[in-house]
Order: sequence, then C-alpha cells, then structure tokens
Amino acid sequence: MEKIIIFDTTLRDGEQSPGASLESHEKLEIARQLVRLNVDVIEAGFPVSSPGDFKAVRLIAQKIKGPTICGLARCLKKDIEAAGEAVKPAKKKRIHVFLATSKIHMKYKLRKAEDEIARLAVEGVKYARRFTDDVEFSPEDATRSEKEFLYRVIEEVITAGAATVNIPDTVGYAIPEEFDELIRDIRNNVPNIEKAVISVHCHNDLGLAVSNSLAAVKSGARQIECTINGIGERAGNASLEEIVMAIKTRSDFFDVSTGIVTEEIYKASRIVSKLTGIVVQPNKAIVGQNAFAHEAGIHQDGMLKRRTTYEIMRPEEIGLSASSLVLGKHSGRHAFVEKMKKLGYSLNASGIDRAFARFKELADKKKSIYDEDLEILMEAEAAQIPEAWRFVSIHTVSGTNEIPVATVRLRSKAGSFDGTASGDGPVDACCKAIDKITKTKGEMMDYSIQAVTKGKDALGEVTIRVRVKGNVAIGKAASTDVIEASAKAYLNAINKLIRKGNKRLKIET
Ligand code: KIV
Ligand code: ZN
Repeated sequence: MEKIIIFDTTLRDGEQSPGASLESHEKLEIARQLVRLNVDVIEAGFPVSSPGDFKAVRLIAQKIKGPTICGLARCLKKDIEAAGEAVKPAKKKRIHVFLATSKIHMKYKLRKAEDEIARLAVEGVKYARRFTDDVEFSPEDATRSEKEFLYRVIEEVITAGAATVNIPDTVGYAIPEEFDELIRDIRNNVPNIEKAVISVHCHNDLGLAVSNSLAAVKSGARQIECTINGIGERAGNASLEEIVMAIKTRSDFFDVSTGIVTEEIYKASRIVSKLTGIVVQPNKAIVGQNAFAHEAGIHQDGMLKRRTTYEIMRPEEIGLSASSLVLGKHSGRHAFVEKMKKLGYSLNASGIDRAFARFKELADKKKSIYDEDLEILMEAEAAQIPEAWRFVSIHTVSGTNEIPVATVRLRSKAGSFDGTASGDGPVDACCKAIDKITKTKGEMMDYSIQAVTKGKDALGEVTIRVRVKGNVAIGKAASTDVIEASAKAYLNAINKLIRKGNKRLKIET
C-alpha cells in the first residue's frame, strides 16, 4: 500500500482559528503529542508573523525529534529568512512558501499580473532552497485559479526546486468531484509533476474539507494537510482524525495507508481542545463525546449481540477504552440488564421487571441516567422492604402567601386511599397527608437532601429520620421532584417501622 504523508498544521493554520492563540510551551506540548501520533510533518508556525511564533517554531525545531518541522513563508526574502532561521535546529526541516494564483487574489490583494506572480513564486522557491532542500510551494486559492496558469506555476516551481506542491482549497469552495478532477488535470498537464509530491490543503467552509481531501487521494495526492479536531481559519481545516480513520477503516476503497498511531488520536484531540479552548462538538466524528455512544434500544441490543452491527470502528483504535451504552429513555431491557451486571447487581426475572419499570419511569423525567442513579434505583430494589403502603401519586399546592396543601394517594392490599393535609411547607403537608392515610403520627427528627448526580435535572436524594411512639426508622428515596422524594422517603420510614413489627402502626384498611 502506498503511504499518505500526514502534514499536520494544527500549530499554524489551526492556531489561526479565531481566539486560539497558543503560547510556545503549549505549542511544544501539542507537538509532543503529534510525535506520539507519528505525523510526518509538523507545520509549527509562520515565523515572520510575530516574535512569539518565531520562538515557538524554533523551540519545536530544537526539541522535537522524528517528524519534519516546517515553517510557513510568503514569497518574500524576510519571511523565508525567518522561516529558515526558525527551523534550522531541526534534523528534518521544511520551508513552505505560498503565493496566490487566482485572478481575484492577484488583482485585488496582490495587484500583480500573472508573469510577475510566476517569477516571484520561482524566486521564492529558489531562495528557500538556500536554507533547506525540502521546499513546499502552495499556489494559494488554487481551486479558483485559471487552470492553465496554475499548471504553468506548478511546473516552474518544480523546476526551481519545490519537492512538494500543495493545492489549497483556500476558501473551501471546491466540490469533491471537481477537486478530484483538478488533481487529475494537474497530473496530466504538468510535464514534470512526477518530480514532486502532490499535497492538498482543504478548508471546511462548505463542510467538504475531508471529502475533498479524500477525493484527492483517489486521484493521486500523496500528502494531506490537516489539523487535529479540524480547527483552523473560519470553518476550519480538514480534520486529521477523520481523514486518518477514513483511510484506515476503508482501506479496501482507498488502498493507501498512513503511519499514524491511531490510538493516540483521542488524547491529541483532548490536548488541543484543552489548550486552544475550542470545545469539540459532541457529535463530531471520531472524537466527539457521542461518537461511540449508543442510546437507542435497538442499537444497544444490536451492539450487545455483535458490536459490528452498529460500529464500524473500535473505540480502542482511537485510544478510548470502550463504547458507552448511554442509558436513557430509548434504552431497552437488554442494555439495562447488562449495565446492572457491570455494576455488580444480580436480579431474578421479577426483580429485573420491577427495576426496569422504575428505570423507565426515571428515564422519562431525566435525560441521562448515570451509574449513581441506577445504584439508588437498585438500593430500593435490594432492600425489598415489604411495602405495607405503596406510593401512588402526589399533588401539592404551595407558593408565596399560600397555605401549602398536599394530597397523597397510597395503595395497600385493600386498595387506594387518598389523604389531604396542610402544613408548614409542602413537605410537611405531604407527611401529614401520609400520617392521615396510615393513621400514624410520625415525628420528623432529621431531614437532608442531596443531589445524586450533576445537572439541573439531577435526582434529589432525601434522607429522613422518623420517630413514631419511641421507634425510629430512616427512610430514603430519590426523585427528580424533591417533594415527591420527601414523601417517598417518609413513607419508606413508615413502612420500615411497620416491618419492625411496631404494633401501634398496624395498618387499618
Ligand atoms: O489555506 C491556504 O491557502 C493556506 C496556505 C498558506 C497553504 O493556508
Ligand atoms: Zn489554510
């Protein structure tokens, strides 16, 4: 299989993302991870652009061993000198010179005619060759350039000594079929093209950066320029992880490979996100939080039967420990039981039925169900308290200048019973309503409430100590509704007291 050169420009084009400025030591930290990833080229910065960038490129050139270290330069002597000086300490060094070739850039930005552009491009490459043999040239805005002029510039820079010609889709304008055709046309119309490596550099303005890069691989490009998490100017650059995993996962289609240690991808993504402050969207391919998470019951069931039913890559391939089956309202019984087993619970069939029914009730109220939520759920199941009274429903009215009133419905062997009471607050009203139904008079000795998990929709766990005629019991319950949790906790304590055999709490039905 032919190898695709992975040219990482996270530290140059990626750093051009609005708000993503990195300090030298942060760039070095990212560069170290790029070494672990085993990228072939690190474009470490644009040395002439600022003393800080020069320093960072120089530092990386001094400290980083393995990949080629590259510095960007316009076709200007001062740029090329700064780049040459910055990459000097590196064992393998490259200067990347660029000059726009599209009519719109030449006329409005550079105010230069074609002949002058061609001359400057050639001079730039020749000057860069004084600093290193490894020179790359980019005709900026190539995809909007006149093809004949593009062929001419490419041919002349190769003759001048460019070892790599990079075709940038600077404004993310290309469509994959078109870009594929452009690369083929370059191969067929530039007589000395075989003397250089064809590279591509795609921006994501239309969301096509990765597709365009992969289309170019099919038509003969052998270097791809990309960034971790796809960060970069405007909508970003082609994402390294997507390109690499597409080539790996569909090697049957592409018939090429990369040298990337894919197990380092996730870590690289985290480091770049942390240091640039650019968060990764949850549904981002490969490295998004949801990329290996399955919520739908049918999917979870399929995954448990055979992973490949819903996964085309293994999470371990990018350095994640495992796929996650996120329990939520779409989850099925199979996933629920598996999760319970993982948490160390074993239940018989009827226990599973009850726990699963409670889980579904909770999932209707709460978006994500965490392990702690399930543990609470299972505690209630494991306690197996013979419930003299079962909680059915609650209705409370309270507010500023209102007397809190609660109506509670409980069920016993004899049927359903309603009780209504007012109290100092809605919790007090609930407890009094429960007292009325159960014909007890509980004394609340302690009350505490705690959020079990994170988020506004977290479960509130209520713990209550109740005394009835000298007997004390602790009741616990959790719910997304803290008043309901309080009522259930109170009832839980009352039921325990009944179980303890407190004759005075005999159920009168
Ligand atoms: O997008 C672009 O054209 C560039 C060049 C400097 C290669 O970043
Ligand atoms: Zn770019």
